[in-house]
Amino acid sequence: MPENLMDKLVSLCKRRGFIFQSSEIYGGVGSVWDYGPLGAELKKNIKERWWRSMVHERDDIEGLDAAILMHPKVWEASGHVAGFTDPLVDCKQCKNRFRADDPRLKGTPGEPDARCPVCGNKGTLTAPRMFNLMFKTFMGPVEEAAAVVYLRPETAQGIYVNYLNVLQSSRQKIPFGIAQIGKAFRNEITPGNFTFRTREFEQMEMQFFVKPGDDGKWFEFWKHERLKWLHDLGIRPEKLRFHQHGKDELAHYAKDAYDIQYEFPFGWQEFEGIHNRTDFDLSRHQQYSGKKLDYLDPATNERFVPYVVETSAGADRTTLVAMLDAYHEEELEGEKRVVLRFKPALAPIKAAVFPLVNKDGMPEVAKRLYDDLRRRFNVFYDDGGSIGRRYRRQDEAGTPFGITVDGQSIQDQTVTVRERDTLKQERVAAAQLDDYLAGRLAS
Ligand code: GAP
Repeated sequence: MPENLMDKLVSLCKRRGFIFQSSEIYGGVGSVWDYGPLGAELKKNIKERWWRSMVHERDDIEGLDAAILMHPKVWEASGHVAGFTDPLVDCKQCKNRFRADDPRLKGTPGEPDARCPVCGNKGTLTAPRMFNLMFKTFMGPVEEAAAVVYLRPETAQGIYVNYLNVLQSSRQKIPFGIAQIGKAFRNEITPGNFTFRTREFEQMEMQFFVKPGDDGKWFEFWKHERLKWLHDLGIRPEKLRFHQHGKDELAHYAKDAYDIQYEFPFGWQEFEGIHNRTDFDLSRHQQYSGKKLDYLDPATNERFVPYVVETSAGADRTTLVAMLDAYHEEELEGEKRVVLRFKPALAPIKAAVFPLVNKDGMPEVAKRLYDDLRRRFNVFYDDGGSIGRRYRRQDEAGTPFGITVDGQSIQDQTVTVRERDTLKQERVAAAQLDDYLAGRLAS
């Protein structure tokens, strides 16, 4: 793969309407991105697939949609007010900012020997100061300390504070889980690499509540399940690997943690984590809220605070992985073809309908076909430019099937279906197209 794959992807995303920089007409806002028509579809498909496999296809997981704003004490109990910090170093000369653990920093920041990696000056770096990553805002009209609330930095806490509500209303028994998808916010010091590290992002998180002692078994189970889900998404297995957290990497709540990493153009990096959070969160919420959160096992009459095995995926990072993994360049008839080889079920547009030429009854037939298909699939109609150019546009959008209405279609009511990856064309009866597509899109 070319080393500037990220640049190519960023440019394709803008050209085809996957992802735009936020507030671009004002010069953009740092590390916040907007999903355009195709990106919104792709991310939605990924989230729906996650929801289906985690919630709909399992009897032991319930869904939740908790609010972003929560009682400020939640974040004291969770440890985020005290501990969700990064050490920050400023260069007084060039005004650049770094995390103190940035490998480019040489010497001891705050001491005369330290050198700024950007401007190269010595002695201009400040001593590290701890910087909390949570965004603060105010609830109500008065901006005072008592009114401070935070934008949640993880969706998991919405699950913990609703644990009892869900347990009681759903009549679940331990082991069981709660899943949710939602926005999270972190005032990252060094965001970057497109949508990889941003200040506003979406998480797909599931907390699985188990009996202490069973946590090891469930941890292994969820590691296996989550990797399998990514294989099913069509991500190449050789681009995925686990990374176990060393003692120095473990979050304040974790007993054990594995990242699922992808080989990004900028190296192997995490885009999902499986964490054994023990009873840390529920015990702390019990302590801070004064509300009992223990569980009475009806089978054994034992009381315990459940342990939690968490699966935590970023919807944006998973979308980025899906795009990078699908990106291919090849030579076709002496020209470069860029194609996004999404698994058909993930593709933003499922099929494009083209009249070969804009005359001889072809547009009318193609339009009718398009109106028919759109009731069931996200399809696209395109009658602009040569058929070759129309195919290329859809290749870049990752559309798996191109349906062309030509002269023969008028005679025998068949159309050609072109496959994005193999470029094979076959004739299919127009009346069968609906079922044909449904079959091909099922996986
Ligand atoms: N509840 C546990 C938790 O939040 P995390 O490892 O901090 O764990 C989980 O985050 C996932 O959320 C990451 O693997 C990543 O996909 C996504 N994520 C975290 N910070 C992000 C950021 N600044 N930008 C984009 N995605 C982020």
